[in-house]
Amino acid sequence: MNINEMQKKILELKKEKDVCILAHSYQAHEILEIADFTGDSYKLSVDASKVQNKNILMCGVRFMAETCKILSPEKTVYLAQPIAGCEMADQMGKEYISEVKKEYPDYAVVAYINTTADLKTICDVCVTSSSAVKIVNNMDNKNILFIPDCNLGSYVAKQCPDKNIKLLKGGCPVHACVTTEDVKKAKEMHPNAEILVHPECTAEVVAMADYIGSTSGIMDYAKASDKKEFIIGTEISIAEHLQYECPDKNFYPLSLKLLCSNMKSTTLVDVLNCLEGKGGEEIILDDQTINDAKKCIDEMIRLG
Ligand code: 13P
Ligand code: SF4
Repeated sequence: MNINEMQKKILELKKEKDVCILAHSYQAHEILEIADFTGDSYKLSVDASKVQNKNILMCGVRFMAETCKILSPEKTVYLAQPIAGCEMADQMGKEYISEVKKEYPDYAVVAYINTTADLKTICDVCVTSSSAVKIVNNMDNKNILFIPDCNLGSYVAKQCPDKNIKLLKGGCPVHACVTTEDVKKAKEMHPNAEILVHPECTAEVVAMADYIGSTSGIMDYAKASDKKEFIIGTEISIAEHLQYECPDKNFYPLSLKLLCSNMKSTTLVDVLNCLEGKGGEEIILDDQTINDAKKCIDEMIRLG
């Protein structure tokens, strides 16, 4: 089957089987084309809470599929590619954070949504990169333990000077590997381009950016801008998607190291196999985990 035939088959099957397909913006172009909803982690969480279909198929990584299940426990939720994890989400477990919490009893635990469902059960509120500053500002608590991403956390701390934010040593290895040298080189090659960077990059890289924002923040900024050239400091697929959407502008990845192999592990074949009952993984979470983890996701939607 060629790509078009495969996409046609997927569209037929998802209608027949009452499946809603959600795809994170880091997915390949041909997957975004067959999705019902696309966007960053925050948008997908909100979209997932409104889905009417009986089944949800997540093209993204595991914590995103778990978030869908937590928000819609009555639905059957599938992760298209079972090996698609998130290195950051796997860095900190419930036991470790329970111990850290004992040292900071009067701190509210703010968890980046890139965490496991199990860890979310002991956190107070979730945030995404696009909603973190707003949510932290809207919280009553002054003392905040921000986990797991210290780069996003230090960015939030700068934007929320009234808060006392404690960080741990976690983060996204994909975004964190970009260096100031990479930025200088990209700027030399494209001197007229604006630099748009995700806050999961290091503070030194973020300091060199013209714009700092989440996946959709970067996309919206580039689309609305009068400028013609942009260096994109997040997963390389975003430069490609923007090139499709804005053919009159030029987009350059900040570094070819910005490739998330987990996000890229889902293919159209995986989506088709999952719809045909030959692949994917149904997300199963026990009721207690769903109830406990849901509190901090509901809090995210309320404060965001
Ligand atoms: P967004 O919150 O921008 O969607 O980012 C998700 C992610 O995994 C970034 O690495
Ligand atoms: Fe996780 Fe980083 Fe990949 Fe995002 S880019 S899914 S944070 S490993």
